[in-house]
Amino acid sequence: MKSIKDLDISGKRVFIRVDMNVPMDEEQNITDDIRIRAVLPTIQYALDHDARIIVASHMGRPGGKVVPELCMKPVAKRLARLIGKEVKLAPDCIGPEVKKMVEEMKAQDIILLENLRFNPGEQKNNDDFAKELASYCDVYINNAFAVCHREHASVSSITKYAPESAAGFLLQKELTYFKKAMQDPQRPLVAIVGGSKVSSKLEALENLLLNVDKIMIGGAMASTFLAAQGVEVGNSMVEPDLFETALKIVKAAKEKKIKFYLPVDAVVAREINQKAETKVVPIQEIPSDWMILDIGPATSRLFQEVLYDAKTVLWNGPMGVFEIDAFSRGTISLAHDIANCYAMTIVGGGDTDVAIHKTGETERITYISTGGGAFLYLLEGKVLPAVAALEESEKK
Ligand code: 3PG
Repeated sequence: MKSIKDLDISGKRVFIRVDMNVPMDEEQNITDDIRIRAVLPTIQYALDHDARIIVASHMGRPGGKVVPELCMKPVAKRLARLIGKEVKLAPDCIGPEVKKMVEEMKAQDIILLENLRFNPGEQKNNDDFAKELASYCDVYINNAFAVCHREHASVSSITKYAPESAAGFLLQKELTYFKKAMQDPQRPLVAIVGGSKVSSKLEALENLLLNVDKIMIGGAMASTFLAAQGVEVGNSMVEPDLFETALKIVKAAKEKKIKFYLPVDAVVAREINQKAETKVVPIQEIPSDWMILDIGPATSRLFQEVLYDAKTVLWNGPMGVFEIDAFSRGTISLAHDIANCYAMTIVGGGDTDVAIHKTGETERITYISTGGGAFLYLLEGKVLPAVAALEESEKK
């Protein structure tokens, strides 16, 4: 795949698709700007080459209409502050006013388009919308890893109409780390998968089984595996229709000699809130009206030991309801254990990223992906549609 470095962008109009879909509070204050910081090197590179830079992103899911709370204004302000330059916010993402603004741009000017998803054409991968976006630029750069699993106009169709296309540094970095971990890993390759549902991670689990040496399961999804094996899990959340699939996964792991680890103890409570009474119990002793809400200390110790000789670690999904302090210990201690590994460690997924940041271990993780759905898509062994579109455009 071509990189921004492979193209001559000097003085040109460069359209950089980024994912600045950042979390905001009720007053539109940005609560975490990692996704904005992550794309700065590409914007800086374009500035260094005197490009005229058009930055575009989506925010939230406004469903093709204008939702004032999802306006890009706070992002424009933060981007300007981080990059130390004025960032003009366009009144829309396409239209005559935007066209005029683009035509009047000078070298090193930066325009941020309004939320791409305010236009219904974005999510419909509409050709006319993509054509208009592409008409603003000489060069199109996709640097929006976190939305590359979507077939949307600004990451997919646009590559058909932009004169030249390439990947930005963030997209390249995300793909390179993932490839290193999955295609030619240093072994043992250990995967840790958590989160609430087996159903949402089924394809990822199946794909991981083709490659990993060890796999550890935590979070509510572990309850489905335990219950499928006949463990009494009380009121824990389970997916009974997936019991058979869960057993098949365990069997497949055994046949492939993959070490498959499930929790051996748990933090349980009757209800999910900070004030709930909690206790730690062995997995065979879950009281009938209690539920598993975190892995227990023995499991944390076990997982720590399993990680001991790992050379490559992939982590996706929390070990419990970590948003609530009482059920966050398992996830937090895992984050520290991964940070302590003498291994290449790759972490991805919205909740997992939040957990890592909560522990302050960000600097000691080899790579933290900016993608949630896109990271999972890669774990499932699929080619990201937007990446396929970029590659296809190279054949033009
Ligand atoms: C994300 O936050 O994972 C990306 O910005 C994609 O957002 P979406 O799930 O609304 O497409």
